[in-house]
Amino acid sequence: MSSLPYRRAGRSGLDLSAFSFGLWQKFGTDYPYDTQREIVLHAFELGITHFDNADRYGPPHRAAQQFFGQVLRNDLAAHRDELILSTKAGNPIGASPYLRGGSRKSLLGSLDHSLRDLGTDYVDIFYSHSPDPGTPLDETVGALVSAVQQGKALYIGISNYPTDRARETARLLRRAGVPLLVHQPRYSILDRRPETTGLLELAGDEGFGVVVYSPLAQGLLTDKYLDGIPAGARAQNSAFLKPDAIDDAYRKRVTTLNKLAAQRGQSLAQLALQWVLRRPEVTSAIIGASSAAQLDHNVRALDFPALTGDELAIIDASDE
Ligand SMILES: NC(=O)c1ccc[n+]([C@@H]2O[C@H](COP(=O)([O-])OP(=O)(O)OC[C@H]3O[C@@H](n4cnc5c(N)ncnc54)[C@H](OP(=O)(O)O)[C@@H]3O)[C@@H](O)[C@H]2O)c1
Repeated sequence: MSSLPYRRAGRSGLDLSAFSFGLWQKFGTDYPYDTQREIVLHAFELGITHFDNADRYGPPHRAAQQFFGQVLRNDLAAHRDELILSTKAGNPIGASPYLRGGSRKSLLGSLDHSLRDLGTDYVDIFYSHSPDPGTPLDETVGALVSAVQQGKALYIGISNYPTDRARETARLLRRAGVPLLVHQPRYSILDRRPETTGLLELAGDEGFGVVVYSPLAQGLLTDKYLDGIPAGARAQNSAFLKPDAIDDAYRKRVTTLNKLAAQRGQSLAQLALQWVLRRPEVTSAIIGASSAAQLDHNVRALDFPALTGDELAIIDASDE
């Protein structure tokens, strides 16, 4: 196994690999087991030790965790102590009110089901996947604290919470003696909301880490869409990335960024990954991949010199 740098999650005692691997898309029963297994094992070979999952991931829902459970049992069992496994609950996975939302019933029921699917006694990080304005925050936080007290999770995370709700959640968790470990927002050159909403600043103040998702904007921050949509690419077959995202404004911006990356002797994907990791509040970037080759390419982002002030200014100006 090679090694990637580790980065500390806020003011906790936990380090995460600078890149994490996520099983959101293309991990489920619709895809060949051997391909999925090769990608996950390759990620581990490259030094990625944090695997991000959720009850919802598939298709169908729960399939990504059932797949990961098989790999854990067959290939990675001897390495359980070297892995950080994350799961999330609260986004809808069925029509029942108990299969969605931030209630105690929904969160703890999902966690038990995820532990069975993963074939493990505990997850390292248990997340509330999204805020649920329909449930008292005290109840959601109480369920997260119970997960830790019951030994089913070591740490707690929240995802997609706006800054104010994150601040209040961090306060309630601290009061309960279970400090918030990480927040998981979307963050990339194409989506800078964690900066503009003060979330990164809050992370620094409160001492939690930030684990960012979709740092490549699902592939938009690579050179793959510069000449159209290649066969098999996510924009061709995903409900979450529509072909209309690839319009003239997108192409203009990405052409500028691609030129800057070429001047630095790297690819746009590598530039985009370096960019999110430039912020000290960011503990890890969760990447997805549809092949082991994409992973090889992406982890090399860490081999390049830091972005200069002038280069950051070009990136800032690329959306004007
Ligand atoms: N908390 C949440 O609500 C939430 C939401 C979304 C995601 N997440 C987490 O974040 C993880 C990562 O999200 P993401 O998959 O959107 O991340 P991403 O890294 O922005 O996008 C990954 C996709 O980009 C393409 N790609 C990657 N490297 C490439 C390269 N070198 N050249 C060309 N294309 C490349 C691949 O798509 P192709 O299929 O086109 O090859 C790959 O699947 C998820 O798996 C999940 O764990 C969390």
